[in-house]
Amino acid sequence: MGGLHEYARVWELHPLAVAPAAQRRGVGRALVAALEERVAALGGLTLRLGTDDMHMVETGEGRTSLAGVELYPDPLKHLSAIRNLRGHPYEFYLACGYAIVGVMPDANGIGQPDIFMAKRIASR
Ligand SMILES: CC(C)(COP(=O)(O)OP(=O)(O)OC[C@H]1O[C@@H](n2cnc3c(N)ncnc32)[C@H](O)[C@@H]1OP(=O)(O)O)[C@@H](O)C(=O)NCCC(=O)NCCS
Repeated sequence: MGGLHEYARVWELHPLAVAPAAQRRGVGRALVAALEERVAALGGLTLRLGTDDMHMVETGEGRTSLAGVELYPDPLKHLSAIRNLRGHPYEFYLACGYAIVGVMPDANGIGQPDIFMAKRIASR
């Protein structure tokens, strides 16, 4: 995993990947917590990330209800009704305390958006 200072008090979490054989054992959560601690110590207030919903190679389908959908002219309407259809990692970040704060339609191609999430990682 990695973290990048983006601007002002905002850092970006990127990338994050746990080896398939080690997933669902708390490794991802522990890595995120370690980065949050490090960023807070450096004066960061917010950790943000984008989590793509790209079409899967095997099936050509996306993983959330936002995939393959025309998000314009009201992306936030679709975002507020998001559902996890095929194990998209945005729910992992929800479990780590991140909130969904936006969406970039067509980030990876038509109907393949990037879902934006953020968390306050330090107190005032
Ligand atoms: C997403 C990823 C980093 C999660 O790491 P992990 O070590 O498997 O996650 P953890 O075991 O720490 O899980 C923490 C919590 O999130 C949940 N969770 C993990 N992956 C999830 C998923 N895909 N969908 C829903 N919930 C998920 C776990 O059930 C757990 O919940 P609990 O605490 O209530 O039991 C890992 O699956 C991965 O590397 N995936 C492939 C690459 C990827 O998608 N990276 C993110 C790109 S933005």
